[in-house]
Amino acid sequence: MIFDVVTIFPDFFSSILEHGVLQRAQAGGQAEFRRHDLREFTDDRHRTVDDRPFGGGPGMVFKPEPLFRAVEALKAEAGSADFPVVLLSPQGRLLTQAVAEEFARKERIVLLCGRYEGVDERVAQHLATEELSIGDYVLTGGELAAAVVMEVVTRLLPGVLGNEESSEQDSFAGAGSGGAESAAGGVHGILDCPHYTRPAEFRGWKVPEVLLSGNHEEIRRWRRRRALEKTWRQRPDLLASLSLSEEDSGLLEEIRQAALEPATRHP
Ligand code: ADE
Repeated sequence: MIFDVVTIFPDFFSSILEHGVLQRAQAGGQAEFRRHDLREFTDDRHRTVDDRPFGGGPGMVFKPEPLFRAVEALKAEAGSADFPVVLLSPQGRLLTQAVAEEFARKERIVLLCGRYEGVDERVAQHLATEELSIGDYVLTGGELAAAVVMEVVTRLLPGVLGNEESSEQDSFAGAGSGGAESAAGGVHGILDCPHYTRPAEFRGWKVPEVLLSGNHEEIRRWRRRRALEKTWRQRPDLLASLSLSEEDSGLLEEIRQAALEPATRHP
């Protein structure tokens, strides 16, 4: 998959491209990350990318011409216009795991990073195929958001995660969750269950007994219950949009009952 990032700060991405999953995907040939300096697509001596807003007001707005030129150059080079052109913006559709999965099926994606107070609306209307937000808060620019998109999409590309991580995911998918959770930590459907490692006791806090039991069925059920419980407590909105299996409905009922008795603590 090719990621074309259009930005006035190409160096911003150097560190994340040299580490972790993005570095691995690039080295393994599953992904290619290309940075395009927006100023290369200006036509004045000062390489101007922004201007004052019509109608007045504070701040500067990204001019349309450099962004249009940049994307048109990419389309000409690719010999195709058949890929998403995503404008990172707090006004966009919200990035979720489902959206990441949708992008991971594409061969190429263009990410347009805005800056300052905004981007000329004609970019959103006539150049971008969509606006995408990474959350209901305002960043100073689209670069951090683009980096988030690169990370969440790349880790879904076939062959990028190591065997261990992928097979863990498989075992979760096969556990009757219908793929509702991603073992590698993703929120898809419901939140992940808690995880523990050695030591079994740390400063008096013990790892739940069941995890040391070796009973795989009990462990699976405990994990599912804790994942549901965490979701019920922290993100009930996620449960509302889910069709629950019979087991999940039963576990949720147990969780609700237990919550009515504050003294009761499940193992
Ligand atoms: N640019 C500024 N804020 C943003 C956000 N929340 N998501 C995506 N791009 C942005």
